[in-house]
Amino acid sequence: MQKNIASIRKSYSQKKLLEKKAAADPFRQFSKWWKQAVKSGIDEVNAMTLATAGSDGVPSARIVLLKDFSDKGFSFFTNYNSFKGIQLNENPKACLVFFWKELERQVRITGLVEKLDAEANDSYFDTRPEESRIGAVTSPQSQVIENRDWLDDRYKQLSKELKGKKIERPVHWGGYLVKPVLVEFWQGRPGRLHDRLQYSLETSGAWKLERLAP
Ligand SMILES: Cc1cc2nc3c(=O)[nH]c(=O)nc-3n(C[C@H](O)[C@H](O)[C@H](O)COP(=O)(O)O)c2cc1C
Repeated sequence: MQKNIASIRKSYSQKKLLEKKAAADPFRQFSKWWKQAVKSGIDEVNAMTLATAGSDGVPSARIVLLKDFSDKGFSFFTNYNSFKGIQLNENPKACLVFFWKELERQVRITGLVEKLDAEANDSYFDTRPEESRIGAVTSPQSQVIENRDWLDDRYKQLSKELKGKKIERPVHWGGYLVKPVLVEFWQGRPGRLHDRLQYSLETSGAWKLERLAP
């Protein structure tokens, strides 16, 4: 065992998460924590782990950027033909995890996934910097490519072709909405006796709040 790794540990003592202060639903609770996370200046506060599994049941996870949230769900943008896109096509369920270490907090969101519509995709795509829009046209995300030069040459070529023209969103590029059914808020506490509050969506549409053991 690597002793230097095993000895890395931190104890958490900044805050508490108690039922009496928790919001009635996970969207309001997320919004509260989100504002605090933004205010505390966390770098890449919108970076979240996205876990998916296709029909083979093998999980896969990667970081993506949260682009919006509302009572409808949490959205991110990607390439629909990517590995995650293929998995989400086979099994439209996902889990998102935020780790806001500066606040000793984690949020886990499990839900059903659907694609955003073309209008939402276009309107976000058009706000992206030109470089990123050309990047989206250039990259066959998750496919094996020959080498770095292939990518750079393709980018250069497309930049030339698209110069002065409106860069249309590729049809395979767009957003997904994760509609939560289970949301857990985790607040680090001393002695590893952390606070964990979980909201689960009931068939009535109401949210049930329960405390989980740490
Ligand atoms: C900080 C950070 C932000 C990222 N944001 C996105 C994103 O918003 N959308 C995206 O498709 N990939 C994003 N990526 C790249 C993904 O982690 C991943 O490499 C890519 O989406 C391909 O994943 P897949 O092969 O599992 O489909 C980001 C990576 C990092 C480290």
